[in-house]
Amino acid sequence: MFVCMCYGVTDKKIEQVVRDGGVGNMRELKHKLGVGSQCGACIQMAQAIIDKTIVDESLFKDVG
Ligand code: FES
Repeated sequence: MFVCMCYGVTDKKIEQVVRDGGVGNMRELKHKLGVGSQCGACIQMAQAIIDKTIVDESLFKDVG
């Protein structure tokens, strides 16, 4: 699913840069992929995906 139409960025791509690229907030995501730096319509959804990915990751890390 496309989150950012202006830059053609999908939810999967955002999850990937959060997991593997060390992106932890909107500012870093903007810097890395351009997300949110054009029309801004995607910011809320992009932020939600960052948050969700970080939560998923920390749950995973807590196991064991
Ligand atoms: S949809 Fe992301 S900046 Fe326009």
